[in-house]
Amino acid sequence: MALSYSHDVLVIGSGAAGLTLALSLAQHAKVAVLSKNALNQGSTWFAQGGIAAVLDDQDSIQAHVADTLNAGAGLCHEDAVRFTVENSKSAIEWLIQQGVSFTKESGTEDYHLTQEGGHSHRRIIHSADATGRAVHSTLIDQVKQQSNIDLFENHIAVNLITQADANSRTLRCTGAYVLNNQNGDVHVFQAKVVVLACGGASKVYLYTTNLDGASGDGIAMAWRAGCRIANMEFNQFHPTCLYHPQTKNFLISEALRGEGAVLRLPSGERFMPRFDERAELAPRDIVARAIDYEMKRLGCDCLYLDISHKSFEFITEHFPTVYARCLELGIDITKQPIPIVPAAHYTCGGIVVNKEGHTDLQNLYAIGETSFTGLHGANRLASNSLLECVVYAQSAGQRILKTLPNIITPDASKQWDTSRVTDSDEDVVISHNWDELRRFMWDYVGIVRTHKRLERAWHRIKLLKKEIAEYYSNYKVSSDLVELRNLSTVAELIIRSALERKESRGLHYSLDYPEKSSIARDTILVPTNFAAQDIVVSKE
Ligand code: FAD
Ligand code: SIN
Repeated sequence: MALSYSHDVLVIGSGAAGLTLALSLAQHAKVAVLSKNALNQGSTWFAQGGIAAVLDDQDSIQAHVADTLNAGAGLCHEDAVRFTVENSKSAIEWLIQQGVSFTKESGTEDYHLTQEGGHSHRRIIHSADATGRAVHSTLIDQVKQQSNIDLFENHIAVNLITQADANSRTLRCTGAYVLNNQNGDVHVFQAKVVVLACGGASKVYLYTTNLDGASGDGIAMAWRAGCRIANMEFNQFHPTCLYHPQTKNFLISEALRGEGAVLRLPSGERFMPRFDERAELAPRDIVARAIDYEMKRLGCDCLYLDISHKSFEFITEHFPTVYARCLELGIDITKQPIPIVPAAHYTCGGIVVNKEGHTDLQNLYAIGETSFTGLHGANRLASNSLLECVVYAQSAGQRILKTLPNIITPDASKQWDTSRVTDSDEDVVISHNWDELRRFMWDYVGIVRTHKRLERAWHRIKLLKKEIAEYYSNYKVSSDLVELRNLSTVAELIIRSALERKESRGLHYSLDYPEKSSIARDTILVPTNFAAQDIVVSKE
């Protein structure tokens, strides 16, 4: 029989969101943190540009709020934006207290603030062009020093566990079934509170800046457990992912454009001023769409980002990571333009939560990229994501600490049932379905959409989901199967949301509905087993 574990709080995910939350609880509660791979294998480690925050006297909360609302194309929830921005300074101060070393203006004690698209001020605090590594390595060092935090690497959560709450006649989350990737056992992780901090779902697309683990597990698990999911049609495509046969997901930070890099056609012509007066510093949806348009018009495989007019010293001081990686691949960015393509980058939608990160299911929280707080609207403003991770992890932490003393220890859950499954003899089905799904999502549900293409994707996802469900019920669970199953759920939610949106707004652009509607509405999908209803359902 596989081991069972019991903690006060189970945090599923070890990125900026999960670790910030674990640290905010560690003095008062016993916490388990799961990571499906190594602790640093998520988007956080690879973040480049930095963290948006109001830190300069010339800047203001009002200006950061206005820029976020503007990028979000009318769909941001203003209260969530204001809440996040008002807490931005203290979030950065907390990171500095943990030991994060941000870049300073040379020869001074002032932090250097860089610029990115859609921001009216320089407000991005950063650690050269490897901000994620600086933040994440510091948080990892901190959690390793906490005796109250148990870290479980290579453990992938498969499903949430819920129990009927005898007092209030509602369901509550009491843990998760977790696959130990090293020995294939599925453990029960029982907890009074469960937090999904699983990151985004951009792996649903063929080309992405994300690692393989970005398979939307948190969103899929929450949906299956009865939580609402919102605005999944708004997947953000980053305009500048390196185009090179030897690397598939290396980002070229937007901060290059912030510091003067320009986009060029293969002929060398600069084209962004034709599309928007802010040119290369327009919000991401506009820049990515312009690149997509020019690539299709010219029938070329990539366009170019050029910073070679800046000095060698400037480039290597500000962008050492991008410089070194490109040079390894034979591209000297101080002398030549960088080949780029847009790629799926960030999931703006997610699990519906309140300001304390609480979901529709009692004792279940969601924070970071997996959540939908209302901050990003139809298009996330650059560098607002790490900020959201820290701000919401802290507010969720405060609420969890308040409620924990009143939560009774859950009853022991049933062990994972393997009596009706066998070892798979056809793993090729998983890899084939995985490729097929990501390709049709890229072709039919990408930067520019049509109703017909979305319908094609809808038919395909229905077939795939059926096949995957059959496979899941017959064979032993593996991490690839868990991720494929979740990707298929997330793909279905994206397509369904895109079909429901009969307009073009932010990241959702439809040739059939090119205008923006006068009414701004979120797309909120409600599962048939909606958890916030007053019913008792017996579930696994
Ligand atoms: P992640 O850091 O992605 O971590 C997810 C965690 O969940 C991982 O530990 C993973 O193992 C775990 N997990 C997932 N599913 C399971 C499961 N089933 N079981 C167990 N564990 C699971 N944003 C900015 O604000 N500024 C930037 O400069 C910036 N640059 C970026 C550059 C790149 C290349 C990328 C990809 C993103 C960038 N972003 C940036 C976005 C930002 O990095 C992410 O949105 C943010 O780091 C997400 O943090 P997170 O904690 O929510 O998730
Ligand atoms: C980048 O450095 O371009 C990424 C910033 C972000 O995604 O917010």
